Amino acid sequence: MTDIKGRTAVVTGGGSGIGEGLAKELARQGASVAIADIILENAEKVASEINAAGGKAIGVHCDVCERSSIAEMKSKVNEALGPVTLLFANAGATSFDALMDMSDDDVDWILQVNLHGVMNTTRAFLPDMMAAGGGHVCATASMAGLLPGWIPVHVPYSAAKMGIIGLMMNLAIEMEEHGVHTTSYCPGGVATGMKVNNARYRPDRFGGPGEGEVHVGEDSAAVAGSQAFFRPEAIAPMVLDAVTNNRAFVFDHPEQRVHFRETYAKIVEACYNASDNWQDQHGRPEANPQGAMLVK
Ligand SMILES: NC(=O)c1ccc[n+]([C@@H]2O[C@H](COP(=O)([O-])OP(=O)(O)OC[C@H]3O[C@@H](n4cnc5c(N)ncnc54)[C@H](O)[C@@H]3O)[C@@H](O)[C@H]2O)c1
Repeated sequence: MTDIKGRTAVVTGGGSGIGEGLAKELARQGASVAIADIILENAEKVASEINAAGGKAIGVHCDVCERSSIAEMKSKVNEALGPVTLLFANAGATSFDALMDMSDDDVDWILQVNLHGVMNTTRAFLPDMMAAGGGHVCATASMAGLLPGWIPVHVPYSAAKMGIIGLMMNLAIEMEEHGVHTTSYCPGGVATGMKVNNARYRPDRFGGPGEGEVHVGEDSAAVAGSQAFFRPEAIAPMVLDAVTNNRAFVFDHPEQRVHFRETYAKIVEACYNASDNWQDQHGRPEANPQGAMLVK
């Protein structure tokens, strides 16, 4: 079990949407919460709403693409709220442009904010958790990471979100002895302002903030449009329930189970059948007598 009450939590991207929902639910369940966001005024607004409702929160500026910005944020949080044992690495940005139409800056941005952002924040806060003898890292991935063939025209985003899942699953093994658990939250449709606000999140080193809605092509819009979009405040208790019970995953749309099963059943069958057929014809590939070390 991971207790929420009495803990200090950090929520990156907590200034709006899913992160705002998580921050408010964490406070409602008795955690002190630091809302860390690239848009400081949004982080401060969420913190003041939590404080007005009787909770304890601070808003802090942070760009999760920059290790130095995370380090500054961490020292402010530690000073105000003490060591952090709950991390919600949730900040992210999206793109539905075709890969070869994207600028190098935009490809780098989407990979950095979604994948390196989670890596950077996790590495910054693990020492607090290891020193405390336990903690929990919950990263917001996506169904687009678990099922990268599901939503078309989403290449760097799907790659980054799939990377988060690998990060969380492998980290759980490494951190077992320290009592640190991990959860990958894979939203399958939550109503937020990302489509409208996304361009505002672009850090200076990737071209700086812009204006305008995210362009979503017809094929991607058709998949997205077939989903129900839940409200962030309705989803947050479900995510915290998974964290409390140290579950490795949260999937919020049970109807997506069919697609999940079909995708992985197809991969397993197609790949191992092909491998069996090849080995039936050619024999099993020769194993190296020295194991992993290739001695020529
Ligand atoms: N809404 C969905 O249906 C959905 C589906 C799958 C995954 N997600 C993921 O959920 C997470 C939250 O997104 P949301 O839908 O709530 O959108 P949102 O736009 O409401 O929230 C994103 C937040 O991240 C912040 N942010 C962006 N770049 C940042 C940076 N470099 N450093 C710090 N903060 C930064 C933004 O200011 C914003 O507050 C994202 O990781 C997103 O990819 C959302």
